[in-house]
Amino acid sequence: MSGVKPNELPDEAELAGMSRDELVKLGTSMDGVELVHYEERWPVKGTRAERRAERLVALWFAIAALAGIAFLVAFIWWPWKYQAPHGTDHILYSLYTPVIGLTLGLSILALGVGALLYTKKFIPEELAVQQRHDGGSSEVDKATVIAELADAGQRSTIGRRSLIKRTAGLGAGVFGLGVLAVPLGGLIKNPWADSDSKDSLWHTGWKAENGEKVYLRNYTGDPHEVQLVRPEDLEAGGYMTVFPFRESEREDEHALIVATKRADNPVLLLRFRPGQKIVKRAGQEDFNYGDLYAYSKICTHLGCPASLYEQQTGLLLCPCHQSQFDVFHYGKPRFGPATRALPQLPITVDEDGYLIARSDFIEAVGPAFWERKS
Ligand code: FES
Repeated sequence: MSGVKPNELPDEAELAGMSRDELVKLGTSMDGVELVHYEERWPVKGTRAERRAERLVALWFAIAALAGIAFLVAFIWWPWKYQAPHGTDHILYSLYTPVIGLTLGLSILALGVGALLYTKKFIPEELAVQQRHDGGSSEVDKATVIAELADAGQRSTIGRRSLIKRTAGLGAGVFGLGVLAVPLGGLIKNPWADSDSKDSLWHTGWKAENGEKVYLRNYTGDPHEVQLVRPEDLEAGGYMTVFPFRESEREDEHALIVATKRADNPVLLLRFRPGQKIVKRAGQEDFNYGDLYAYSKICTHLGCPASLYEQQTGLLLCPCHQSQFDVFHYGKPRFGPATRALPQLPITVDEDGYLIARSDFIEAVGPAFWERKS
């Protein structure tokens, strides 16, 4: 509700001639605002207390900038790749997440504290009572609001506090860079620089290198224990999760652990009951070994491990968004958001009777990505 009657409003010529203070006063009274209390924080300019307050605010913004720089450095250069326990490398690796969390958190916190302190120390103390009113804004309202904002800006004294302006700009800028680095981080390193390597998205740890056999390993939970799998280890209707193993890695604790940690390695080895009707995928008719079939466990929707298996129906359920894959029908999705079948690992048995992979998967495992066509 306006506190000024329409016939008391200034016309355009009078408006143009009014000072900012007069416009501010007019604007507040038009909005039915009564300034009960309005006091500058520093009526006497340039006191030691004022300079101290200014330095305190600047200190927080500087902390925001330093923490933001620390976050950027840690996010890009900290050793984040998995390292086996019991070494100094493992300590550094395990600190990666806490370090980027703490530095980014401190940057946000320091920016917030700096902004709060600035408001408390430099924005004039004001207590106003305002009545609400309906309808859109008139030209007079717009002119007076602009004047009020300009007045608030000037009275906040930010214009002449270059130290605070610079540190706030630096803190917000570095923080902004940190926020940008998260989505852009993946683009810093070219993921396609070596598409043929087993570390690219097209391959998994099942890729054979130097002609070495890749065995199916039953992981018992003990990284030193290597339990290879023979067909007779699995009863009809049974299943187990297997990981790749190479003889050259037998004494290499790090490689043994990495093989079980790598996200695209887990494979579900299933033994179907004799006589079970199976539909094979065209071109993959010989990927199984008798009743034994091996499918990637990584859901083709968003990459969760799908391992809730119901042997009667042959449905494998992903617990994340309830996709169901029919392992009797080449891992085809039957329900849920996944649209691609689970990739099948071609397997056979070597001369000693152990199950081995005949090759890597013939397609990328897990969720789709930009370059993937199918
Ligand atoms: S990740 Fe499996 S259904 Fe979404």
